[in-house]
Amino acid sequence: MRKKITDNISWVGKIDWEIRTAHGKEYSTHKGTSYNAYLIEDEKTALIDTVWEPYADEFVTNLRREIDLEQIDYIICNHAEPDHSGALPALMKYIPDTPIYCTKQATLSLSGHYHQDWDFRTVTSGDTLSLGENTLTFFPVPMVHWPDSMMTHLSGQNVLFSNDAFGQHYAHELLFNDLADQCTLYEEAIKYYANILTPFSPVITNRIQEFLATDLPVNLIATSHGILWRDNPEQIIEQYLRWSDAYQEDQITIIYDTMYNSTKVMAETIAAGILQHSPATHVKLFHAAKADKNDIITEVFRSKAVLLGSPTFNKGPLASLAAILEEFRGLKFTGKKASAFTSYGWSGEAAKLMLSELIDAGFETVDEGFRINWRMNADQRHDALQFGVEFASLVF
Ligand SMILES: Cc1cc2nc3c(=O)[nH]c(=O)nc-3n(C[C@H](O)[C@H](O)[C@H](O)COP(=O)(O)O)c2cc1C
Ligand SMILES: [Fe+2]
Ligand SMILES: [Fe+2]
Repeated sequence: MRKKITDNISWVGKIDWEIRTAHGKEYSTHKGTSYNAYLIEDEKTALIDTVWEPYADEFVTNLRREIDLEQIDYIICNHAEPDHSGALPALMKYIPDTPIYCTKQATLSLSGHYHQDWDFRTVTSGDTLSLGENTLTFFPVPMVHWPDSMMTHLSGQNVLFSNDAFGQHYAHELLFNDLADQCTLYEEAIKYYANILTPFSPVITNRIQEFLATDLPVNLIATSHGILWRDNPEQIIEQYLRWSDAYQEDQITIIYDTMYNSTKVMAETIAAGILQHSPATHVKLFHAAKADKNDIITEVFRSKAVLLGSPTFNKGPLASLAAILEEFRGLKFTGKKASAFTSYGWSGEAAKLMLSELIDAGFETVDEGFRINWRMNADQRHDALQFGVEFASLVF
């Protein structure tokens, strides 16, 4: 259903209350999400983006209730990922000749997905499209987060249709940031950045600086997921500049798994050592197989340093730690310190292997790690505590 967001812009997207994982099973969506599409009605009518494929028919049915589809003069496709372009095939069946404005890269990714001979009009940075009273200006943002990604600015009301940038997976019928729960909004925005955008941080810094240099005024950031930023929209731009610049809080995150709790007791003892050295530091512990993977990654994003603990299991770490390390490799965190520890029976390779993978993933390992044969005795508890103290002294 249409939701008016300004005099001549309507939200025509889909709020997905039931989704609990996005990107297949890669991203947990505890709060649901939305696929935000927008209809701009000026002398000309433009549709900005669509919705995810499973909602394509619903989207087109709803849109037909609002407007004669033939009245849509232009379609803007900011990003070809199926959560935004997924309803194009259903829509284009009705209006096959309507031009689609997008980047050159998007013509490739849209063709690669849908294999249709649509009327693509490729745009480059600064190109404009007049809608009558107001004008669209295109601002491609390649690798934020696909090569085809683009933002589109509308003059007059000064709306930035930012697509995936500045979004959050957060279903909310009231749409606007001043009407949302502020804690949830912040948590979902940082989780989204940490899990999806971290690998592109250097690019994000540059693209934001380039956008700010255009001096295009922004009164509203209309994202493609979740909440729209109308109250102080600069706040999320400034936050992205902080997050993209090797972001850290005063936090150390310990991620462990355990079969018989030996490694868990090590984790808790090391945490006590960290707090002994730095009583005001946030030390957070997560069981790698029990906590949500994306929540763990968000906490790592916030951290100055991480510690990975696993029993040695068939000469390596448990699969939950291997999975986290694989995530780290792709996310390309920068400026974070790390170490690893293991409880082992006879060979004890897990700590060394995790250290080597941490190095490959771009972490700075600060020591040789820590090993305990079977379970800790009283002396070894003291050693673990001391390991925590020394780790903290190398981090702070
Ligand atoms: C299926 C299995 C495989 C194991 N493989 C190894 C191994 O390859 N090398 C080693 O040093 N210890 C190995 N161990 C011993 C564990 O590392 C040891 O029991 C450890 O203390 C368990 O820690 P936890 O109490 O945190 O689960 C293995 C244990 C199990 C149950
Ligand atoms: Fe995307
Ligand atoms: Fe998206």
